[in-house]
Amino acid sequence: MKTIITFITLAALILGGAVWANESADLSSSPEVNAGHRGAIFQPKQQGRMPLNYVNQPPVIPHSVEGYQVTKNVNRCLQCHGTQSYLTTGAPRVSPTHFTDRDGSVSSSVSPRRYFCLQCHVPQTDAKPIVENSFRPAAGFGR
Ligand code: HEC
Ligand code: HEC
Repeated sequence: MKTIITFITLAALILGGAVWANESADLSSSPEVNAGHRGAIFQPKQQGRMPLNYVNQPPVIPHSVEGYQVTKNVNRCLQCHGTQSYLTTGAPRVSPTHFTDRDGSVSSSVSPRRYFCLQCHVPQTDAKPIVENSFRPAAGFGR
């Protein structure tokens, strides 16, 4: 009985993996995805990096963040963007401002006020604005 259960579990895992691998296959055939830097972990490039619209804008995220966990114990974003990993993942490194706490002290890890990345950085989307917006990028920005 035990062997049968083990077998079924294994089969489900292998099949599930195959379906998952198949779904991500179309992505890698797109030229945009192939244009990305290939490191130990590879984040498919779904869209290009977006221009900033004003000084000190938190850049919008050019990739999907679906399923990425940012909790007390784990920060998926820092696993690629952190100082220890950005060289191998090809992700832009979090900037020095992210290490300064509210009292102005700089530490070697990301400050608590910059820990929850999605508070400020949002994924790119072509969703229509909910309310009308007359915002124009600052001179020289937005392109
Ligand atoms: C698997 C690695 C990986 C993970 C995980 C990841 N990123 Fe990225 N991120 C990248 C790469 C690679 C780029 C650069 C893409 C490019 O150059 O087009 C990028 C680009 C960005 C940028 C654009 C920076 C700029 O200057 O334009 C932001 C912002 C960003 N990511 C935020 C996040 C946030 C927030 C999370 C967590 C929710 C996250 N990333 C998780 C790899 C990752
Ligand atoms: C309180 C808002 C805020 C939070 C939270 C935040 N950021 Fe940022 N981020 C910014 C702003 C503003 C900028 C642009 C100015 C700067 O570099 O400080 C930026 C810039 C960046 C850049 C571009 C750096 C560069 O040199 O071009 C990356 C990458 C980035 N953040 C990743 C992250 C990640 C990963 C997290 C979570 C660990 C995070 N940020 C949390 C506001 C935030």
